[in-house]
This record gives sequence, structure tokens and C-alpha cells, in this order.
Amino acid sequence: MESPEPSRDCPLCPRLRDFRELWRQREPVWFNAPVPTFMPPEGEGAVSLLIVGLAPGLRGANRTGRPFTGDYAGDLLYRTLIAFGFARGNYHARPDDGLELAGTAITNAVRCVPPENKPLPAEIATCRNFLVPTIDRFPQLRAVLTLGAIAHQSTVRALGERNSVMKFRHGGRFRSGSIALFSSYHCSRYNTNTGVLTEEMFVGVFRDIRDFLAIP
Ligand code: URA
Repeated sequence: MESPEPSRDCPLCPRLRDFRELWRQREPVWFNAPVPTFMPPEGEGAVSLLIVGLAPGLRGANRTGRPFTGDYAGDLLYRTLIAFGFARGNYHARPDDGLELAGTAITNAVRCVPPENKPLPAEIATCRNFLVPTIDRFPQLRAVLTLGAIAHQSTVRALGERNSVMKFRHGGRFRSGSIALFSSYHCSRYNTNTGVLTEEMFVGVFRDIRDFLAIP
């Protein structure tokens, strides 16, 4: 199996590597590297839910090194995870806040921060070399939640399925072998400020996932 984690100096996407180098110069104490999957302390055998985001935010995960940590999108995501028991502790937007995931892992379709938050199709495809083994590494995986259309489409491809059949929609639910694929609009500041995604809509998706996972 390919490694599920890119190296710190992953060279596969030249544009993203150059952007990362630029920010290493500008902000030498930031993380500025491919952001690893956030795992529960019990390890990969405990994971039944995998959440797939888009890519690290420049001043969020790219700064802190933990997915969705330190930017606006993380506030709603971690609040909801704690409310549903998918995480324990308190979220303080820093990787040493002690927050622990419970039965859940969080990754990104693209591991490096892209300029203007927009990865190119070739970068999304290249980073699928890590998404595929990330999905494969969890022997007890039952559900995957994708946040936004790009994460959804790349995950559908990673699962060997077709996007023409599994079209992205908020609240979507699909089946791929033993895995249930749930999809939500991304919990970005833009989507929540414009009302594309309300907290109630987001919570509704987690309610569906919790109910699904409760069925043995
Ligand atoms: N931070 C992440 O890690 N992923 C996103 O998709 C957005 C913010």
C-alpha cells in the first residue's frame, strides 16, 4: 500500500511546493507542510467515521498543522463533533488544546495549502495518491463525510466510484461497498455567512451519521 502521509517536503505538486516554500520564508514558525490526518488516540482500528475536508487554510491548518484548526471552518466543525460525541474535550483552535477525536479521523482531499484556497484539478488528482491509502488504512471504517463538492468528488474517485452516479448534494448519502458516503456543504465562513449552510443543516448531517453508526 502507498503511504497515506506525504513527506514534509512532498514535491509532487510544484505550484503547492513553491507556495509552501514562500510561506516557510515569510512565517518560519508556522507548520507550512502537508497537514497529516488528525487521528483519535486509540489509533486507526478505532475509526468508523472519516471526515474529508478540502485543503488546509493558510492561517488555519497550514499554520497549526492540525486539520480545521485555527480558522473559521473549525469552529463549527469541532463544536458539532463535540456535541455528537465524535470528539472529547474543548476546542481552543490550537493543536495543543487537548481535544481528542472519538472513533473519528479528519483529513483533507489536498494536504497542502493552495493559493486562494483553490487547488487545481491536477493537484486534487495527485493528492488522491494519499487519499486512497488514507481511506484504506481504517479496517473498521463505516462512514465517510465529505465537506464540499471538491472533497466529495475526489473521495468518490478514491472509492473507485463515478461522480455521474454519486452527484454531490448537501445531505447526500451513497453506498460504496461497505462504506456509507455522506455529503455536506463545506462549513466555510463564506457558506455560513451567506446562508448556503446553516448550523441546523450541518447538525442534520451529523444526526444522520450518528443514527447510521448506531445501527450494528
Ligand atoms: N481547514 C482544513 O483543514 N480543511 C478545510 O477544508 C478547511 C479548513
